[in-house]
Amino acid sequence: MHWLATTLSATLVVFGSAYAEPESKVVARQTTPLPFPASCSGVTARTNYKLSVADGWKYTLIASGLSTPRSVLFDTEGHLLVLQAGLGLTAHSIGADGCISSSKTLIENKQLNHGLALSPDGKTVYVSASPTAWSYTYDPVALTATNQKVVVKGMNPGGHSSRTLAVPPNNPNLLIVSLGSNDNIDMLSAQKETGRAIVKVFDLSKTPSGGWTYNSQGWYLGYGLRNEIAIVFDGNNMVWGIENSGDQLTRAVTGSRSIDVHIDNPAEELNYLGDPSQSNEQWYGYPTCWTVGDPGAIADRTFQIGQQFMVTPNATFNDETCAQKSVPPRLSMRAHSAPIDGKFDRDYRNLYVSLHGSWNRQPATGYKVIQIPFTQLASGAYDPVAPADSPFTKGYSDILWTQNEGGCASNTCLRPTGITWHPDGSRMYIASDGSVGELYILYKA
Ligand SMILES: *[C@@H]1O[C@H](CO)[C@@H](O)[C@H](O)[C@H]1NC(C)=O
Repeated sequence: MHWLATTLSATLVVFGSAYAEPESKVVARQTTPLPFPASCSGVTARTNYKLSVADGWKYTLIASGLSTPRSVLFDTEGHLLVLQAGLGLTAHSIGADGCISSSKTLIENKQLNHGLALSPDGKTVYVSASPTAWSYTYDPVALTATNQKVVVKGMNPGGHSSRTLAVPPNNPNLLIVSLGSNDNIDMLSAQKETGRAIVKVFDLSKTPSGGWTYNSQGWYLGYGLRNEIAIVFDGNNMVWGIENSGDQLTRAVTGSRSIDVHIDNPAEELNYLGDPSQSNEQWYGYPTCWTVGDPGAIADRTFQIGQQFMVTPNATFNDETCAQKSVPPRLSMRAHSAPIDGKFDRDYRNLYVSLHGSWNRQPATGYKVIQIPFTQLASGAYDPVAPADSPFTKGYSDILWTQNEGGCASNTCLRPTGITWHPDGSRMYIASDGSVGELYILYKA
């Protein structure tokens, strides 16, 4: 509510002169509740997959034909910013009908592939390519991004290519940058100094000329994190990471025998990474300790969901060593779901997570948006409602999903990526990068 009152007066002053056309619609949106369009003119589904929503929820396709949209967020003037891989950064005005009324390319750079963040004052935008993260001075009224500077460089390990960027809402000086492993099982990344399978933090108030060097500078927000694509802030500005865990795992049992455990192991992980202003040098297990998703498949011993297991235990390092040394996830998600982004609702009662969808599971899984209920503990900390050993079916529920989930393949189903809430809290914007780049709104109406 405060947001509406304060930004409305600011926008009215600015809009009269510089940027009259689309902004008159923005003002209209802020004075009357934004409607939920049943469809948007000129936007037709180019795919034939069928979606379902949970009771009480609805969705509308509001854009298609985008170039691999990966990250979305709102600027301080109500424009939706979309990082489109292979194209750059675009800004979209939302019209009085709730559809997109105009679009503009802010940064043209084919190298950009995932990361997008905005400073808390909305005046600096950060974007990433695989080796580099840049800052730009952003003018959300003129819709310009200028004064490009390298803020982080040297992210060249190969393998996972997304570099998720995030600035804490309460600390404009910190930039969080996630960098995954260079392989499914990247043994060298057990040493955090390799600069892989980690999340790092850099002080933007002291960025050296030419930018920070990723593996030798900054501080840690955990290591042994295989590919922490989603970086999320809770209501205390503490960081949660959501991890894409390994594929094709087997478990060595007696002698030289191994069993295939990969269908529901290892679980994808919701990890508590904590306060980004403090270095967190805890090890979260990768590439040695994995999270049990289906204890029944690891038949040589008794596990609970959420515990850590080894692929090949040996005399000096076994499952017990994992239990002592590795921080387990706070909640497990179904193996191979491929979480990409997560956002809390405004009162931090639910975390919404996009699951991009599997390639290494038969039947397929993911291709959906889930809701993880959260609660605030007596300590004031935010925490999932479900205990850490919850089965996948108990810790979270599906909100928007593809009807034939089990038969999905990358180009035949919804491929959710970036999620953001409209500043008025009325709806989520969900990007889908599949074969046709799409944007959906998801809302209760
Ligand atoms: C036992 O496993 C640990 C963890 O993977 C590894 O570092 C160590 O080299 C292994 N030891 C032997 C003898 O294979």
